[in-house]
Amino acid sequence: MSNRFSREKRVCKASGVCLLCVKMSDGLHDITICPMQEQDLPEVLAIENVSYPRPWSRTHFLDELSSSYAFPLVAFDQDGCLVGYICPMLLLDEGHILNVAVHSDCRGRGVGELLVRRVLDDCKLGGAESVTLEVRTSNTSARSLYRRIGFEETGLRKRYYENGEDAILMEYRFADEDRV
Ligand SMILES: CC(C)(COP(=O)(O)OP(=O)(O)OC[C@H]1O[C@@H](n2cnc3c(N)ncnc32)[C@H](O)[C@@H]1OP(=O)(O)O)[C@@H](O)C(=O)NCCC(=O)NCCS
Repeated sequence: MSNRFSREKRVCKASGVCLLCVKMSDGLHDITICPMQEQDLPEVLAIENVSYPRPWSRTHFLDELSSSYAFPLVAFDQDGCLVGYICPMLLLDEGHILNVAVHSDCRGRGVGELLVRRVLDDCKLGGAESVTLEVRTSNTSARSLYRRIGFEETGLRKRYYENGEDAILMEYRFADEDRV
């Protein structure tokens, strides 16, 4: 899978060198994507609380960190600031993205796309056939982002959200030749 960022080297905010952290650069921005750790939760919750009408609690994120199916990730900018996160899970051959958010000052710069593409890469390596997510009908920037990456709108969940808004179900299917 290609994107406008090239992979450079692997670094880790926590330990310096880590095989799970990937630094990506497009010449203008350096973004490092790492597995989320408990120490990241204050910054994650600060983004979460201004991104959603019903934000996840610290306990909810701790559950993701301890789940054997979930692999939450965080994105750091070149100054080491946490600028976004994504909470995916992989169960057998199905991936699912439960949550993704980017700091409001850093939106529209491709961080969300990087996080989603990283999850697609990880799910593909894990043997997924598809990755799904739900998105509010009114969330045009997220729907546009997912469509640009290759997700298709496959269904509607009526009155899925707390305010009665419908959710659109979106799915990314790996081509047969892509599967590991
Ligand atoms: C959805 C979200 C994660 C996208 O993150 P992002 O880093 O802005 O994503 P990208 O920069 O890769 O792409 C965002 C899209 O919005 C456009 N955009 C441009 N400026 C923007 C801005 N200031 N703010 C938001 N989006 C902007 C981008 O051009 C892009 O549109 P395109 O796909 O038509 O090119 C982010 O908007 C967010 O955190 N929203 C609140 C939480 C949320 O709704 N999560 C999704 C739940 S399903």
